[in-house]
Amino acid sequence: MSRARVGILISGRGSNMAALIEAARKEDCPYEVALIVSNVPDAAGLDYAAVNGIPQFAMSHKGLSRAEFDALVDGALRDADVEYVALAGYMRLLSPGFVAAWRGRMVNIHPSLLPFYKGLDTHRRVLDAGDARHGCTVHLVTESLDDGPILAQAEVPVLEGDDAEALARRVLIEEHKLYPRVLADLVRS
Ligand code: GAR
Repeated sequence: MSRARVGILISGRGSNMAALIEAARKEDCPYEVALIVSNVPDAAGLDYAAVNGIPQFAMSHKGLSRAEFDALVDGALRDADVEYVALAGYMRLLSPGFVAAWRGRMVNIHPSLLPFYKGLDTHRRVLDAGDARHGCTVHLVTESLDDGPILAQAEVPVLEGDDAEALARRVLIEEHKLYPRVLADLVRS
């Protein structure tokens, strides 16, 4: 079986990246992770990628325009023959040209039930609003932040006594299950 080549973009911890890499170990997984890109050269997730022997492109965006930096990332992805891009805690807005180049082949995971709670600090905002449920979303990436066609969501209940950290932990468990499944479905489709 030939597998779709995926590039994963991170900025930090990389736990969703790790979940995607782990899922790709299975023989019947329809994708392989071909490249990890980070705009933060010392992102914690890069160590995990290195231990797993996955090529990296890690470079700070500082001093470059958004379009210039994204052009370098695009070049690295193409050099690695990447076909799909998965944003996994990539905390950087993308240039319109980059989004257009990967349209329909670039996904993001966001820790809320979109279209609610785009942006940062979603768990705190859900608690402040007194919502009964929360969750995560995988969606195709468009020009707008945390927007674009929703591919799938997973829900968790907000429990009595939850603080933002506890809620984040439960949502993250769902993120790690949801993302590999949705990415696999996308590359199969
Ligand atoms: C995850 O919760 C992810 O959903 C979120 O950042 C975290 C990254 O954690 N992404 C966004 O907020 C994107 N708008 P990770 O580096 O351990 O995967």
